[in-house]
Amino acid sequence: MEVVILGGSRQIGNLAADAIEELIRRKPDAVLGLATGSTPLPVYDDLADRHGQGLDFSRTSGFALDEYVGLPAGHPESYREVIRREFTNRVNIAPENVHGPDGTAADIPAACEAYEQAIAAAGVVDLQLLGVGTDGHIGFNEPGSSFASRTRIKSLIEQTRRDNARFFTSLAEVPHHVITQGLGTIMAARHVILLATGAQKAQAVRDFVEGPVAAICPASVLQFHPHATVLLDESAASALKLGDFYRHTYENKPAWQAL
Ligand code: GLP
Repeated sequence: MEVVILGGSRQIGNLAADAIEELIRRKPDAVLGLATGSTPLPVYDDLADRHGQGLDFSRTSGFALDEYVGLPAGHPESYREVIRREFTNRVNIAPENVHGPDGTAADIPAACEAYEQAIAAAGVVDLQLLGVGTDGHIGFNEPGSSFASRTRIKSLIEQTRRDNARFFTSLAEVPHHVITQGLGTIMAARHVILLATGAQKAQAVRDFVEGPVAAICPASVLQFHPHATVLLDESAASALKLGDFYRHTYENKPAWQAL
């Protein structure tokens, strides 16, 4: 796991966008794993700017990590809409190449299975963007999630519903159920870049980067990923024991070594 501590969310967005641009130039039909939440927004802003300067997404495809169950199609806070509004509408990804779990499906297990099959049909997720919840969740894999899990329905912990209530008019509107790629699904991505900013993430970051690998902290599974990058601002990094070591390592990284 490479931990990089940067000055702020703009620098984090820029470095993650560098990795995505490098991937797309090397592999124009790359498959991106797309995350929602506030943290990845600077990445999408940066990629939209790069598209304005000619970066071509026409052969790229994207898979969303997760979705609420029960929001009506087109609800502005459904993750399908958020991904469309914040990212895919701002670049030239073909709409048919943008996928998300179907939270409106009558048969949820079938929708989950179909989503796994769609990812498998695309080959492999080349680069998966991730945020992290204050309870250590990735996607919507709440504490206790199996490390082998695939796309499935999950119940949200109240802390997550409260954290996400800011996107809705009241807590009561936040769905209790979600569909999320499993931890096993996420672990199959070639490269995972997790972004975290703000002091409210410091404990979760400390737990998953330096704590034991345990289902109580789902993001800790990334300690087993062969290519995981963690981009943090100073506040999110503030509880890390080895912060100075990560800074020193990044500052002295050989020029030829990419993220
Ligand atoms: C939601 C999403 C996660 C995201 C998390 C943190 O629960 N399902 O994918 O990482 O929120 O969001 P934020 O970046 O807004 O803190």
